[in-house]
Amino acid sequence: MRHLIDPTDLTVRETEQIVALAEDIIANRAKYSEVCKGKKLATLFYEPSTRTRLSFTSAMLELGGQVIGFSDANSSSVSKGETVADTVRVIRCFADIIAMRHFKEGAPLVASQYAGVPVINAGDGSHSHPTQTLTDLLTIKREKGRFDHMTIGFCGDLKFGRTVHSLIKALSRYEGIKVFLISPEELRLPDYMLAEMSENSKLEFREVRTMEEVMPELDVLYMTRVQKERFLDEEEFDRVKNSFVLNPEKLLTAKKDMIILHPLPRVNEITRAVDNDPRAAYFRQVENGKFVRMALILTLLRWADENRPFPHTPVFNEEYVVNELVCPNRRCISATEDVDQLFRRMPDGTCRCAYCETKAR
Ligand code: NCD
Repeated sequence: MRHLIDPTDLTVRETEQIVALAEDIIANRAKYSEVCKGKKLATLFYEPSTRTRLSFTSAMLELGGQVIGFSDANSSSVSKGETVADTVRVIRCFADIIAMRHFKEGAPLVASQYAGVPVINAGDGSHSHPTQTLTDLLTIKREKGRFDHMTIGFCGDLKFGRTVHSLIKALSRYEGIKVFLISPEELRLPDYMLAEMSENSKLEFREVRTMEEVMPELDVLYMTRVQKERFLDEEEFDRVKNSFVLNPEKLLTAKKDMIILHPLPRVNEITRAVDNDPRAAYFRQVENGKFVRMALILTLLRWADENRPFPHTPVFNEEYVVNELVCPNRRCISATEDVDQLFRRMPDGTCRCAYCETKAR
């Protein structure tokens, strides 16, 4: 059974096939209007969302399928203490595919181990957001025509911005990618990501403190919101919240064909005056999100087994270090739910949590 938990669960080829399918859907809407007839998508959203949930819903409806689910964990049995594993073992009886957003990192991975139907990670804590990445890739393809040989500035909250983590992972598989990480010290990219980028010989990256110093070089400027809900400490949030704001003056030195992306919602990090600039691609990006989710749902359903045996509680093999280490990340699903502690051995000899990628102490 194939799932999409991390952007690298798809090969480069598969990723490009999904992007190409999305482009075909855009060009031939009517052809796809009944391809998911009789199929149901369950959207399990344990954390607030507007566009991601509604874009999944709208995607499934446009494919001729139906949608069930919840958008508030308090209205589900989670409020009675049900685990993610049990919830999906129940939902699998009602739906053919699941999209899950969860505040705990690794929750969708746990879901994929128990569901027996394809599970899509619609965002887990500050960890990963692979369908936003597909959205970003489709937008880059439509606006720039390529994925390689590009300079991208990621600006704002690189620490908690799961969309940033996932897009960097996906782009680091292409040639000629140069990344500028533009953030205050407090919101730097997490160590595991910096380590991964240093090991990747293909990728060039540099951390900088202002967008002005790199603006003329950029092909893509990826703006992000400072994510208040991820801060454990309010004072730290107040200190950094206004740090990185894009306005028309800062764009004066940018390339004429640069594009500005933002996963949205925006707060104040892009001033309204930028919206009419032809380089502002963030509202076009939203629509691409629906088309690429249509392509993803269709692809995962095609790959899924028609006969669905009831999945057993999984037993993990040599691929993992099982229950020998404990994940130190308080935001990890393994900190609160009764799941096996799973670690992957990395090429440098360290072990990283399979759910949230935090290094074992
Ligand atoms: C992002 C998310 O939820 O991670 N939004 C989205 O999915 N479009 C970014 C954010 O919340 O700032």
